[in-house]
Amino acid sequence: MTNSAKILAFSGSLRKQSWNHSLVSLAAKAAEDAGAEVEVIRLQDFQLPIFNEDTEAELQAHPALSALREKLSSCKGLLIASPEYNGSLSAVLKNTLDWLSRPGAEGEYEPAFTNKVVAIISASPADSGGIRGVKHSREVLGNLGCSVIPEQVTVGAAYQAFNEDGQLVDANQANEVRSLAQSLVESITL
Ligand SMILES: Cc1cc2nc3c(=O)[nH]c(=O)nc-3n(C[C@H](O)[C@H](O)[C@H](O)COP(=O)(O)O)c2cc1C
Repeated sequence: MTNSAKILAFSGSLRKQSWNHSLVSLAAKAAEDAGAEVEVIRLQDFQLPIFNEDTEAELQAHPALSALREKLSSCKGLLIASPEYNGSLSAVLKNTLDWLSRPGAEGEYEPAFTNKVVAIISASPADSGGIRGVKHSREVLGNLGCSVIPEQVTVGAAYQAFNEDGQLVDANQANEVRSLAQSLVESITL
């Protein structure tokens, strides 16, 4: 697989049965089918501390931070499933973005997100599918220097949107996810 379309995929949920993780996994598979090399991670496996400028320096060597920095620097694209919490992106997602936006141990500033190509999706039990969280995520990632592709997919009534195999029941929605993944891969390889 070519390194030119390497994508890191994750959701902003720590929940074991996260619908956003299911959705991002589907999009990741579609991106692989479109020719990308995709790594799907779960933020739960990293246990990144809550960002605090007072402890930022001493936490630079935290293994979660080093691992996530490494993964971010080696990818060209991001697939992010953003759960909607109180009309915005989850604290877990924002905390991860805040940490990764900061300088490394030696104080050198590598703009970690600049020119990353990003696709944002969301699943929610609400009919709106978490679209307000997607809007805020789009804004934050744009502020970080990412190029967020216009396509987005929001899956409402998530409790009935996935079958037992984690596939989307609605064929149109499944096509939307495939189309978004293809656009992401094309945007990266342009
Ligand atoms: C603190 C909190 C706030 C929430 N706010 C919203 C909301 O504003 N809009 C929404 O659609 N769902 C909201 N939800 C419900 C989440 O969409 C739901 O828990 C969803 O399952 C989270 O995504 P996950 O399945 O990937 O963990 C909220 C849940 C929590 C815990």
